[in-house]
Amino acid sequence: MIERAVEILRAGGLVAFPTETVYGLGADAANPDALRRLFAVKGRPHDHPVIVHAARTAQLDELGRDVSQVARAFGDAFWPGPLTLVVARRPGRVAPEATGGRDTVGIRVPDHPVALALLDAIGGGVAAPSANRFGRVSPTTAAHVRADLGSDVDLVIDGGPCAVGVESTIVDVTGPAPAVLRVGGVSEDRLAAIVGAPLARRTSGEVAAPGTLAAHYAPRARVEVVDRPDLAARAEQLRAEGCSVGVLDAPADVAEYARILYARLRELDERHVDVILATAPADNGDLGAAVADRLRRAAAAR
Ligand code: TXA
Ligand code: MG
Repeated sequence: MIERAVEILRAGGLVAFPTETVYGLGADAANPDALRRLFAVKGRPHDHPVIVHAARTAQLDELGRDVSQVARAFGDAFWPGPLTLVVARRPGRVAPEATGGRDTVGIRVPDHPVALALLDAIGGGVAAPSANRFGRVSPTTAAHVRADLGSDVDLVIDGGPCAVGVESTIVDVTGPAPAVLRVGGVSEDRLAAIVGAPLARRTSGEVAAPGTLAAHYAPRARVEVVDRPDLAARAEQLRAEGCSVGVLDAPADVAEYARILYARLRELDERHVDVILATAPADNGDLGAAVADRLRRAAAAR
């Protein structure tokens, strides 16, 4: 399977593969034609950069340049793992098509044996956005990928359900002080512990990370985030108005909530409910921040 995947990628094809966060839709990061096809299949605007995946922390210097000490410290602490570091792009190794023409590149070493075997076999960088159509819910199983992309992808490698369930945390390490561009699988508390101070959050604003568009990660149903005490009354009110309502049962454990979030949103969508009601965990430095962030963006989509 890995051999076939490598052949397909080398030939400019697209391979969906599992990571610990969500499934990625991979293309050779140095091949402009493959990247153009990747963007077409995703339905993604050309100026939205994708994350380049690597097998080893040492590849930071092959795919990026002018890598700072703090970038290295984060890589050493959290790779393989759900962290993406934005550094200066090394031309030649990463085509500008991968980065929306920017001179920076987001790099990540994923913590999944299948992803690592593939990345190790290919040697270079693999550009891989989440393997869903642009703006929709990210896939956390191979079946989700097939349902979204069908025959537009040359191969889907099934590595089972993703263990983390929300995307990587993105940290910009190009400036004098690191800044969080997207909250995700590595909590802000853990990042702060490495630098000895909380990181700035730059999760909105003109360019931060375009995956941070206010409306994103959206199922087809309208999503409403409510406080737990208001849940039953809001459900009743919507039903009285003639809406079909699906309630997303929130696990008390935030890591479990992150793991099941996207699959539950998809299941509720398949029941064709009009409104999905969800409660958000508190945004207090742990993985709950990522769950709350994705729910807020899903809710902003309509
Ligand atoms: O967990 C993940 O990160 C998953 C798995 C497959 O690795 N990937 C993922 O990719 O979520 P995608 O394309 O759905 O989201 C990538 C995000 C986008 O918000 C994009 O704007 C941001 O990363 N990004 C990538 N390169 C960037 C750069 N050079 N500067 C700023 N943001 C960047
Ligand atoms: Mg995505």
